[in-house]
Amino acid sequence: MIRQLTDFIHFIWSGYIFDGMRVLDATVGNGQDAEFLCKNIGEKGSFDGIDIQSIAIDKTRVRLIEAGLSNFTLICKDHSEINYLYASDTFDMIVYNLGYLPSEAKAITTTVQKTEKSLNSALQLIRVDGVISVTVYPGHEEGRVESDWIQKWSQNLNPKVFHVMKLSYLNQSESSPYLLLIERKK
Ligand SMILES: C[S@@+](CC[C@H](N)C(=O)[O-])C[C@H]1O[C@@H](n2cnc3c(N)ncnc32)[C@H](O)[C@@H]1O
Repeated sequence: MIRQLTDFIHFIWSGYIFDGMRVLDATVGNGQDAEFLCKNIGEKGSFDGIDIQSIAIDKTRVRLIEAGLSNFTLICKDHSEINYLYASDTFDMIVYNLGYLPSEAKAITTTVQKTEKSLNSALQLIRVDGVISVTVYPGHEEGRVESDWIQKWSQNLNPKVFHVMKLSYLNQSESSPYLLLIERKK
């Protein structure tokens, strides 16, 4: 069954999730992905969530507390700084949901410049056999620029070190969102 994209992405993530894993969400937004991940990594798991907007961090904190979760740390920072924030850490999974917060100002959106810096750091922070998941939204102006860039960037990753897969709808508009999975093999 082909589900709504968010449900499908969570279904795909389930294949990577294990009890006690360490996850970084570089764009927590309204906390929908955060709630799914915190619930599924278990009490011994740890979830770090970042967003550039304090409203996103506040909403996500309330959402996770109301869901009875405590295995998380949230910070209001720019994800282009993850190399400084987590210099000596490694993660089992790093997720990005690019674009803007649906309920807030569309002007505050992810950008190529910052996403590039962040993703290059994520390649260093992800452990061997870990996965970076990026949901891309080409349906708005900055999103299209970001989508063009990320496809070129991911096609050029060393295939001996990273496996990259794109999951997209074939019979919908070219501006439909899609998922990129980047697995680190060594
Ligand atoms: C599409 S939303 C994420 C939705 C989220 N995954 C959820 O489950 O609700 C994208 C988020 O990225 C955030 N963002 C944009 N640029 C950022 C940056 N440079 N660093 C961190 N977060 C950023 C926005 O504030 C927005 O909340």
